[in-house]
Amino acid sequence: MSSTILLSCENIVVSFGSFQAVKECSFVVKKGSITGLVGPNGAGKTTMFNTIAGAIRPRSGRIVYKGEDITGYAPDRRFHKGLVRTFQIPHEFHHLSVLENLMVVAPSQPGESLLLNWTGAARVRNKEAETREKAWNALEFLELTHIAHQRAGQISGGQKKLLELGRTIMTDAELVLLDEPAAGVNRTLLRKLEGKIEYLNRERGYTFILIEHDMEMIERLCDPVICMADGEVLIEGDFATVRTDPRVLEAYLGETQGAHA
Ligand SMILES: Nc1ncnc2c1ncn2[C@@H]1O[C@H](COP(=O)(O)OP(=O)(O)O)[C@@H](O)[C@H]1O
Ligand SMILES: [Mg+2]
Repeated sequence: MSSTILLSCENIVVSFGSFQAVKECSFVVKKGSITGLVGPNGAGKTTMFNTIAGAIRPRSGRIVYKGEDITGYAPDRRFHKGLVRTFQIPHEFHHLSVLENLMVVAPSQPGESLLLNWTGAARVRNKEAETREKAWNALEFLELTHIAHQRAGQISGGQKKLLELGRTIMTDAELVLLDEPAAGVNRTLLRKLEGKIEYLNRERGYTFILIEHDMEMIERLCDPVICMADGEVLIEGDFATVRTDPRVLEAYLGETQGAHA
């Protein structure tokens, strides 16, 4: 039934000048799934994420989210609808503490309104206390309270990935786009990151789309798996089906002359 479909990408075409990076790409994402998006470098995966998040306007095609055509919506409008893409911590946030990096994400802080500063100082203070508590709870969940007051620029790569995931907890995320979260993360933190993703999926009802080259992570977390190549969907299925499909093997072989085989 269509009610289980959270996101639908319909015949998406994205061009950069005369180059078509995405060609008539269509797939759906079921509510409650952790959908894997794999494929060789240059397949168009990140371009699809940019299109879903609203950073890129497709030349044609539609993005439908929760039954609504959001193709023309700006990124922040999508964000407020629970469609959240994780980003590396922006450079200018490196000097903020880990805790503060979570606090600045909270949507629509009344403290930003001048009028409210005049008329509702107590309310602003309450709101800030609430945001601080929410941020602290997120740190407890991520097991990062011991680095709460360190500058974000000084924590390890793996801790940064956890913090990026934590930023989604500060919003009311429903669909979270993760682009290569395992890159540069050590095994121990990777397992922790996987555990947190699974928890958010099962207990908080987050739906994920996960782009990842680490096939073990895809295998452990994702069903279904969609494989893109040359801007198109090559195949979709469970991990074993996709992994052993001759077209998929061929696409990866074409990429690096066997490095991924
Ligand atoms: N801003 C851009 N301008 C021109 N070409 C781009 C741009 N972004 C991506 N591309 C090209 O589009 C193709 C798909 O890129 P991308 O979506 O990043 O692939 P993937 O994430 O699967 O590795 C690649 O050939 C890439 O070089
Ligand atoms: Mg990419």
